[in-house]
Amino acid sequence: CVKKLWGGRFQKTAEEWVDEFGASIHFDKQLVEEDIQGSLAHVTMLGKCGILKNDEVEQIKAGLQTLLEKAKNGELEYSVRYEDIHLNIEKQLIDLIGPVGGKLHTGRSRNDQVATDVHLYLRNQVHEILESIRALQKALVKQAEQHIETIIPGYTHLQRAQPVSLAHHFLAYFWMLERDYQRMQEAYKRINISPLGAGALAGTTFPIDREYTAKLLGFDGVYQNSLDAVSDRDYIIEFLSNASILMMHLSRFCEELILWSSSEFNFIEIDDTFATGSSIMPQKKNPDMAELIRGKTGRVYGALFGLLTVMKGTPLAYNKDFQEDKEGMFDAVKTVKGSLQIFAGMIETLTIKTDVLEQTVKADFSNATELADYLATKGMPFREAHEVVGKLVLYCIQKGVFLLDLTIDEYKEASPLFEEDIYEVLQPKTVVSRRNSLGGTGFEQVKLALEKAKKALDE
Ligand code: ARG
Repeated sequence: CVKKLWGGRFQKTAEEWVDEFGASIHFDKQLVEEDIQGSLAHVTMLGKCGILKNDEVEQIKAGLQTLLEKAKNGELEYSVRYEDIHLNIEKQLIDLIGPVGGKLHTGRSRNDQVATDVHLYLRNQVHEILESIRALQKALVKQAEQHIETIIPGYTHLQRAQPVSLAHHFLAYFWMLERDYQRMQEAYKRINISPLGAGALAGTTFPIDREYTAKLLGFDGVYQNSLDAVSDRDYIIEFLSNASILMMHLSRFCEELILWSSSEFNFIEIDDTFATGSSIMPQKKNPDMAELIRGKTGRVYGALFGLLTVMKGTPLAYNKDFQEDKEGMFDAVKTVKGSLQIFAGMIETLTIKTDVLEQTVKADFSNATELADYLATKGMPFREAHEVVGKLVLYCIQKGVFLLDLTIDEYKEASPLFEEDIYEVLQPKTVVSRRNSLGGTGFEQVKLALEKAKKALDE
């Protein structure tokens, strides 16, 4: 039987199937580098504070370095009998350098150790996610620059409402992502603090220096309360919550890409790389990647709700329940990174069917507001103008034509305020270009917004 590192007070060893249930090594092995990094800082501090002798520190550090190299080369082997990454590494250290390896855990507990590992892990991942958000934003800006004057139908209730610049539509997502970026940066402040040195829950009798280990590990500060340090997972929840909002944004955009690439809309073509065919229907080209991102949003929400639920009934301080914080987090990190990368590729390679769009925006009543505004500008109360134009739209529908098809006499009949210039006013381009209020879709505003977007990217 394998003797546990904590086996002193036990009379028998749990059977392997029970160990299997309790172990986290299957998934927390991905924290191996963070775990060793944390241990290196801890043992350096033990030396500096005179808790361990210099030669002991040197032996332990050399051992840890060897294990780190092996870990990087994928040469470490793990066992469920040693439960988790922390005990697996400690066991291997002792096997490698002898009993002195057992001194590493002086003044430390797995409770502050695991919290440290996850803080380090999430810090690195947030960095990568921030970069990926930026890459997607750049792809959006690039597309936007090419489509300032490309006009698409704007919708409310998924009914044609008012035409907008396609660049304006792309930039809407740019700004959503900008807020996602800011939220991740904000969460980073609470991720980058050190729980190390909190011990199991109450601190330690050894004269440790928490500020020093925090500095060695590049943390911006330390948790002020040892109970809090080992037992809250709010920083992961905050990350998952930000990740959920981000995925929600991507998912909405996916829904649009899926709609837009259908024959019914036919606004875009998704590049072959990001589409798949059907095993039976030869004509099919399915927007699989967009659908998958929309679908995968569910698992990120799941991770958020999972962890909120894990935490809600747990008393201070550490509880084994907290081991359940990791799988959802790992999965969410992988999902968010993958989704951002695929999305950027999809946007970069997107084909916009400008010819189709040009015809599309002529074939609807989304210029009706323009006509009502026209009458209102000429002094008719807007409510009355709305009624007059509403009647004109109904007249068109019954006649099977659009507003631009009516003769000037038909217009005069509806209201003598109408003049020849309405035909210019009703052009989709005119409709869009005149919406020049701050943040509107008018071309001048969109150009300004593009400049602001590029500036945000540089900051
Ligand atoms: N594998 C554990 C976790 O992920 C590490 C901490 C275990 N601490 C303990 N007292 N059992 O939470």
